[in-house]
Amino acid sequence: MDSLVARDRSLLQVKDLRTVFATRENDVHAVNGVSFHVREGELLGIVGESGSGKSVTMMSLLKLIPMPPARIVSGEVIFDGRDLLKLKPNELRDVRGGQIGFIFQDPMTSLNPVFTVGFQLIEPLQTHLGLSKKEARARAAELLELVGIPSAKDRLDDYPHQFSGGMRQRVMIAIALACDPKMLIADEPTTALDVTIQAQILEIVRKLRQELGMAMIWITHDLGVVAGIADRVMVMYGGLIVEHAPVKRLYGAPKHPYTKALLETLPSLEDQRSERLVTIGGQPPSLDAEPTSCPFAPRCQYAFERCWRENPPLRMVDDGLAENGDSHDVACWWDIDRGEPFNGGEPFDVR
Ligand SMILES: Nc1ncnc2c1ncn2[C@@H]1O[C@H](COP(=O)(O)OP(=O)(O)OP(=O)(O)O)[C@@H](O)[C@H]1O
Ligand SMILES: [Mg+2]
Repeated sequence: MDSLVARDRSLLQVKDLRTVFATRENDVHAVNGVSFHVREGELLGIVGESGSGKSVTMMSLLKLIPMPPARIVSGEVIFDGRDLLKLKPNELRDVRGGQIGFIFQDPMTSLNPVFTVGFQLIEPLQTHLGLSKKEARARAAELLELVGIPSAKDRLDDYPHQFSGGMRQRVMIAIALACDPKMLIADEPTTALDVTIQAQILEIVRKLRQELGMAMIWITHDLGVVAGIADRVMVMYGGLIVEHAPVKRLYGAPKHPYTKALLETLPSLEDQRSERLVTIGGQPPSLDAEPTSCPFAPRCQYAFERCWRENPPLRMVDDGLAENGDSHDVACWWDIDRGEPFNGGEPFDVR
């Protein structure tokens, strides 16, 4: 059974993506065989601690990583019927910003300080949609309004530094949405913002999804954010997907010891402290070779002999076919519910 890959209505299908950086000292195996799909109109959340390969995975899809030092050593990225990794540079440019909107991790550096916000919105509208300057300007004002910027029309001629952090982030979202993309990839778009503004932006995203029906991939450290907006969630560790499930199942019945640990670090709902995912003990895995054993084993309270010998493939958990035909998959040799080694016949490998 092929749970994370081919699927009807999949807008995006990623298969066995692997990305390696060549550094002076060694290779860094940042993405080690990642497969997943996103359906039209769906929001896929991606969580995992710093360095787990979330950004490099997403940037590899659109070849936005610097190559060299990076190289994509294997994989297919089928978007709307075409393999993005095989497109010519000009075709890929049309996809970026045209069919796939992208919000980068750092809002402070991703707007160009020397151009007005209006210019940065109008330019892609003219390039990708062929609008006249006047049409593009009108559309740009509409977009700023859509993301909740007051007096939108008058703000088009302002520069990024004249906007607050939260407003800049909204501008980023407006730019990413400018060309009516079929999919939006948002990499930690709210991390740098304070909690109230985060909440406002998440509300905007919820509304936009309803209005525009666009597919989204939302990367975050924050399990609370994902719980509120995602349909499905993937947990990454050491450049691998270690668990995948519809959001309620992941939170209600996590199967991977790493996911479980992450959820245990979440403060309760009443607790207003930040929900950042930081405090699980031990070191992140070394990425200087592809993993041949479970990369989480050194930090895992359940690790046993097989975990040190073999890297577990992703397998569907018992009764793992959840609502909507989406599966619940885990890469772990331990059966956390039975409290014994996994023993369910041959695991399938969707990677
Ligand atoms: N240009 C580069 N050269 C070498 N290694 C890199 C480069 N860019 C990223 N890496 C490595 O790839 C791995 C994955 O990084 P990535 O940025 O995808 O992590 P992340 O999950 O997005 O983390 P964060 O939550 O901090 O954003 C890390 O070990 C990182 O050091
Ligand atoms: Mg990142």
